[in-house]
Amino acid sequence: MSNDDNKILLFDTTLRDGEQTPGVSLTPENKLQIAKQLDSLGVDIIEAGFPITSKGETEAVRLITKEKLNAEICALARTSKKDIDIALDCNVDSIHTFIATSDLHLKYKLKMKREEALEKAVETIEYCKSHGVIVEFSAEDATRSNVPYLKEVFKAACDAGADRIDIPDTVGVITPEKIFQLVTDIRTVVNIPISLHCHDDFGLAVANTLAGINAGAKTAHVAVNGLGERAGNASLEELVMSLYSLHRRKTNIKTHLIYETSKLVSRITGIALPPNKAIVGENAFGHESGIHTHGVLTMPLTYEPMAPELVGRRRWIQAGKHAGGHGISAQLSELGIDVTKDQLSDIVARVKDLGDKGKRLSDSDLSALARSVASQTSPEEKIVKMQDFSIMTGLRMVPTASVRVMIDNKIFLASKTGVGPVDSAMKALQKATASFGEIRLNEYRLESITGGSDALAEVRIKVEDSNGVSASSSAAGEDIVVASVEAMLDGINKVLIKRRNLESTAGN
Ligand code: KIV
Ligand code: ZN
Repeated sequence: MSNDDNKILLFDTTLRDGEQTPGVSLTPENKLQIAKQLDSLGVDIIEAGFPITSKGETEAVRLITKEKLNAEICALARTSKKDIDIALDCNVDSIHTFIATSDLHLKYKLKMKREEALEKAVETIEYCKSHGVIVEFSAEDATRSNVPYLKEVFKAACDAGADRIDIPDTVGVITPEKIFQLVTDIRTVVNIPISLHCHDDFGLAVANTLAGINAGAKTAHVAVNGLGERAGNASLEELVMSLYSLHRRKTNIKTHLIYETSKLVSRITGIALPPNKAIVGENAFGHESGIHTHGVLTMPLTYEPMAPELVGRRRWIQAGKHAGGHGISAQLSELGIDVTKDQLSDIVARVKDLGDKGKRLSDSDLSALARSVASQTSPEEKIVKMQDFSIMTGLRMVPTASVRVMIDNKIFLASKTGVGPVDSAMKALQKATASFGEIRLNEYRLESITGGSDALAEVRIKVEDSNGVSASSSAAGEDIVVASVEAMLDGINKVLIKRRNLESTAGN
């Protein structure tokens, strides 16, 4: 471990306090997998578990110590010989032993006098030290303990040979100002490194840890994704990135592995992350609004306080009602789709329209939309122009479609029945354009791009006239019938334009 003064050491408790998250229970193999990842990530100390808890827990800690990882492997133990012996039997490098020091815990939980708790702490530390392990001593509920007594306990722990003392804010009630003062006070009586163990009951765990570090604490207890009892512990990713970006303090963490570690822990523990979670939440590097998207694409720092790559992530842009041309255009280039300026405006308008209806577009939605806009004939080129169409369908009626199209400034009306609304609409369109001869529908494919009944659908068709002139077209939208009519009309126009071009070449 380095002696670099600027460096903060990370004591990761994902496998201990993190596993105490309600609903989380890990197998020894799960724990080993996470421990290996934490080791690659660069945490200094891995609190592998609380061996006295169960056979599986003891096995997990043993499995981890056998692995000979770079990190110091630590086990939690109460100030009881039985707890310590089991922890020693797991071959750990260090023991994290604790006893509560607040009058509340002493009276109602331990039923002990202050002096007894102090004696227990000293006895246990000396016992651990006689076995040659590193000892970190925690005064549980320190932040609600009587400060002169707490100082006495920590001084005694230090004299008994503890290597580190830890200040747990067990129920997350301290504030940054108060923890700064507490660390400053404790430093007057101990000359060994101080750790902080902050819980997030008021959402202050990271802020409190940072304040304690500013007062001279050297080690931070953290958990990946902020897991832990109740509202959890200080989150590893938030603390590390705040230290790095806001406080210019070093850690041994390889920040580019933060995201994959978070994902792994979330998958194994089954605790999903809220999308707006700092650093590792889905939205932490996502942009939708036109103003922000334009900003980050021009100069990322405008709306990103850190580069996503720093934590192993990538920026992404969401096509939605707040989107603007810059963002959509950047997204399309990433998807490898080239569009003209007019097509881009059309795509943006459609995206906003869908956004107004509450729809968020995934990459595949957007590419389908863009493909369909890019493949469509332009309004000026169109020979047949849609004026209107309507369809009637129901349980006890034959689906019937009526269309009104304009060809050479003349209106043509046609109605047709079919087996369903799409079929009747296609047939009505063919009838309305019958003066050009039959244009058959040779192929029709419908794809739902995203799930759900309001999913964007992509319709792909192929049409052909009696002379073998054919064309393909596609259209995307939330309404299958509208998308089908759009694709069919476009297909008919393409055949007619091709035919006209062929005729004019033949005439030359
Ligand atoms: O929150 C707490 O007080 C703990 C102790 C075991 C340090 O987790
Ligand atoms: Zn805790």
